[in-house]
Amino acid sequence: MCGIVGYIGDRQAPEVIYDGLSKLEYRGYDSAGIAVLKINGFVEIRRDAGKLSQLGKLLDKSPLSGHIGIGHTRWATHGEPNQRNSHPHKSMNGRVVVVQNGIVENYAELKEELMAEGVVFLSDTDTEVIAQLAERYLECGYSFVESLRATLSRLRGANAVVAMTADQPDTLICARLGNAGGVAIGVGQNEMFLASDIPAILEHTSRMIFLENGQMAVLKRDTFEVTNLQGEPLDVEEHFIPWDPVSAVKGEHKHFMQKEIYDQPGALLSTMGGRVDFENGQIHLPEMNLTPELIKKIRRVVTVACGTSYYSGLVGKFLIESIARLPVEVEYASEFRYYNPIIDEHTAVISITQSGETADTLAASEQAREDGATLWSIVNAIGSQSMRTADGHIAMQAGPEIGVASTKAYTTSIIDQYLLACVLGSMRGIVSDSQMKEHVAQLARLPELAGRVLENEAAVEKLAHEFARARDFLFIGRGINYPTALEGALKLKEISYIHAEGYPAGEMKHGPIALIDEEMPVVAVVTKDHLYEKMISQVQQAKARGGTVIAIATEGDEQIAQEADRVIYVPEAPPLLAPIINVIPLQLLAYHIAVWRGCDVDQPRNLAKSVTVE
Ligand code: G6P
Repeated sequence: MCGIVGYIGDRQAPEVIYDGLSKLEYRGYDSAGIAVLKINGFVEIRRDAGKLSQLGKLLDKSPLSGHIGIGHTRWATHGEPNQRNSHPHKSMNGRVVVVQNGIVENYAELKEELMAEGVVFLSDTDTEVIAQLAERYLECGYSFVESLRATLSRLRGANAVVAMTADQPDTLICARLGNAGGVAIGVGQNEMFLASDIPAILEHTSRMIFLENGQMAVLKRDTFEVTNLQGEPLDVEEHFIPWDPVSAVKGEHKHFMQKEIYDQPGALLSTMGGRVDFENGQIHLPEMNLTPELIKKIRRVVTVACGTSYYSGLVGKFLIESIARLPVEVEYASEFRYYNPIIDEHTAVISITQSGETADTLAASEQAREDGATLWSIVNAIGSQSMRTADGHIAMQAGPEIGVASTKAYTTSIIDQYLLACVLGSMRGIVSDSQMKEHVAQLARLPELAGRVLENEAAVEKLAHEFARARDFLFIGRGINYPTALEGALKLKEISYIHAEGYPAGEMKHGPIALIDEEMPVVAVVTKDHLYEKMISQVQQAKARGGTVIAIATEGDEQIAQEADRVIYVPEAPPLLAPIINVIPLQLLAYHIAVWRGCDVDQPRNLAKSVTVE
């Protein structure tokens, strides 16, 4: 889950690469580095531990120049994040330089073999074996392409690799093995770009090629050739990516996370755009490729996802089961892939993924495909592997999400599952035309309601400052708002490092209630729905144990003000859509607590936005 950028052309490669890396830092920020090839075949590298800005300082002191280069921002897997383990890595005689995203699983065995042949290693990383092995093949008389091919054939694991050689200072080679994250090639005018993710290079070109598993590309400034690992040329599709790079900047906000929380009303509208026909009360999902035959065949849905996307799937279960009456199971992708799940041609597997490249989610859906399932993807990153390999997809249209803590992808993916539930319900003959009209009407007000929650930010900020010193938090909710509690707790953990647990409120008495004392704030999602009275009684139980209760409640609810210690009011939303509205104050609460505590909100410690390793 590191970030990779490469460039070949007339511009100054270090500038293009540094700028690209700054848009990939969400993938890892333990260390960063850039290598350029000089005309005389000399390789120059600058790299350092710490964030990209550290590399920036190094480049200010000791600039690099050149027209072909590669760069990397790292999330460490092998070897501590210090200078010598920072990418790019050079081979012993300096002929090959590489960056990698992913893991070489058999690196220890390859390293031992190379060391026995006298190769001296300069780092503790798995990546260095790639450079060393490629150099050994060059020394045996292989061409650069052949040596890379031979090297890749010896690697086990999943990786994206970019390499250059001093012998051939007009060529970049990139390859993809498995699901360690993508490689996008940007085709320019007499210049080529490559990156782990398109926002890194999108301002330079909209023409993109995506490498698939087992593909390798040889780039010169004016040509590219994609082959399989046996060297057979492949026809590849060129995609036009219309994202606006301007939308990836913070604007008036202090952090990307805050900007992305504020993006939500617009993102909700975008995800409905072109799909929801408000006038006629209909929903169209053409990219899902749903046919009456397919709908007849599907008897159950299994959702696979990780992190916040998993919690979105839990909300989706309520939506699909209650609207379309189709049974749904929601599984952590990392568990699903190893427990021999029961999947057949009557199962539709939905992957929910912001990045479209989470290794566990991709592996889980691949496995489901082998077992005969139909694959659906709810995905934000346009052109990502999850989108490309699914039988049908819904693009979230949330726009680039940079903050590591996911916000707008959560709410837009819930809407997308609502749309899917309505269409499935209609095609299954369960949702009538008039019911469909009602569902559509409920969607119409949602962006405005989300905007109204944001107007309350100052009150949430005040509350955040009051509770920012707490060591633990408990979040409780019931029914469709149980996942809201889980997501609220996850947000707080991720960015403020406060221990927080999300719990179904009715389960409190079976354990967590023992934790409650004056030191433990309890955040209760108590908005008006059929479980309101039950939630009130959980609030009373928490109060009876001395807990301080912060309630998320519906505007106009006077009773809750008597029961809870603090109340954050949200506008009334239709119960099935309430999780979208109710989570927003929890996102803001986590955000302001983290800012107050001086935490690095957009790049929390130990985390990364795209987890492309197991
Ligand atoms: C990481 C991110 C989370 C995200 C999860 C799943 O843990 O930090 O924000 O929810 O991966 O990512 P995906 O891209 O598959 O939604």
